[in-house]
Amino acid sequence: MIIFKSQREIEQMHEAGKLLASCHKEIAKIIKPGINTLEIDKFVEEYLAKRHATPEQKGYQGYPYATCASVNDEICHGFPNNKPLKSGDIVTVDLVVNLHGALADSAWTHPVGTISDEANHLIKIAEQSMYKGIEQAQAGNRLGDIGYAIQTFVEAENLSVVRDFTGHGIGRNMHEDPAVLNYGKPGKGLKLKEGMVITIEPMVNVGLYQCKIDKNGWTARTIDGKLSAQYEHTIAITSNGPLILTDQELV
Ligand code: MF3
Ligand code: CO
Repeated sequence: MIIFKSQREIEQMHEAGKLLASCHKEIAKIIKPGINTLEIDKFVEEYLAKRHATPEQKGYQGYPYATCASVNDEICHGFPNNKPLKSGDIVTVDLVVNLHGALADSAWTHPVGTISDEANHLIKIAEQSMYKGIEQAQAGNRLGDIGYAIQTFVEAENLSVVRDFTGHGIGRNMHEDPAVLNYGKPGKGLKLKEGMVITIEPMVNVGLYQCKIDKNGWTARTIDGKLSAQYEHTIAITSNGPLILTDQELV
């Protein structure tokens, strides 16, 4: 069931999104060789607590941390840990902010120190693919238009799109209908309407798109050990087109 949002609810989610966007900008500043992802996780919890917000992921279906921190071949749901990041790594930090009951969800892949040309190409294309999807998030378009735009853009660059994880509706719950696939056919799937709020969050791999899950039951990593990156924004479908609620340019 799709839960449509009023303008006021979208405004409240936008406030959560602005806080999340500013938190991502701070994370970008502290990521350096030597820092570990548990320190980033602690930073996020404190940053949100000071601003009367909470990390919605913590405790969600038993997930133990405020953030997901997925390094190199980890696709998503990486557990923060005390291993120092090193120059050449890439790390995706994913977090969901709850501000007075309104949620916003955004993930960002950061380079650590100096990264390879391969890693640089991957993160640039993954980020651009998200914006290709966002361009299609227009009332009257269909979910397949989003997936098709992402998939064709990524595959033209000889990279692959993960199938096992998707974007989603979001509101007072982190995961609402519909599932927003990062692949698909134009003109197919659910029609987008004003008042829907969804995430667009392609996971892009250098090699094969398949993944395997670690023994912790959460962390997905590439089956071939090659790099993976992810960018995610929360988007409201409005009469003026897609509104990026987690835009870092505005904060
Ligand atoms: N932020 C993630 C998403 O985009 C959710 C991660 S699952 C959690 O859907 F359990 F870690 F919260
Ligand atoms: Co999400």
